[in-house]
Amino acid sequence: MSELTKHQAVEEHLIEKFRLFDPHLDQAAGSVHDNNLPDHAVSPLQGQFLFTLARSINARQIVEVGTLAGYSTIWLARAVGLGGRVISFESDAKAFQIALNNIRKAGLQNIVELVHAPAWEALQTTYNHLHPVDLVFMDGDKPNYVNYLKWALDHSRPGGLIIADNVIRDGRILDDEDDDLKVEAVKAYLAALTREKSLTTSILPLVGIKPYDGMAISLIDPK
Ligand code: DHB
Ligand code: MG
Repeated sequence: MSELTKHQAVEEHLIEKFRLFDPHLDQAAGSVHDNNLPDHAVSPLQGQFLFTLARSINARQIVEVGTLAGYSTIWLARAVGLGGRVISFESDAKAFQIALNNIRKAGLQNIVELVHAPAWEALQTTYNHLHPVDLVFMDGDKPNYVNYLKWALDHSRPGGLIIADNVIRDGRILDDEDDDLKVEAVKAYLAALTREKSLTTSILPLVGIKPYDGMAISLIDPK
């Protein structure tokens, strides 16, 4: 068994053991595959982890960059519950329509506000006065991660969380010569985090059913 296969098998095992699935999550995950969207949704273990983080800070208002088909959005919406709000941005028209359908089927349309727009534009205009945000989850539009970090610092409450997916990229962040746009973007993001004195950042390397990557989890000083 190759290492990757073992990591995948372990996550599959844990998904079954902890029953990290249901028809709505399956629908969202399956719709990525069925519609040939990029295989970039968070995994079930990662979804459960995001849910736990959101719950642990009693998040009421969450901003998500990159809805894709709404898989992580479902986890986050369930974490905030009724009365909470997840504003999730998706610029791709096909993914947006699929996500709308998935969120409605999951009965979360009163919690989730799906926005069909490039997140960076929308956050500077329509959503510029959003406050207080409890959690920002960056997953799409890597080239703007540093901008989203600045936005998050301006709009989040003390004790809030700023989370970014895909900051390890199979270890490519080690390669100074790697000028792939997304690799460069996450390198810049990590560098920006190290300069941010108001943040306590944990970098979590992750491997399971998805290839080796990681999340940056930054806690804003409670003040
Ligand atoms: C990519 C994006 C993701 O959100 C992810 O989880 C994995 C890979 C990508 O764009 O390469
Ligand atoms: Mg991702």
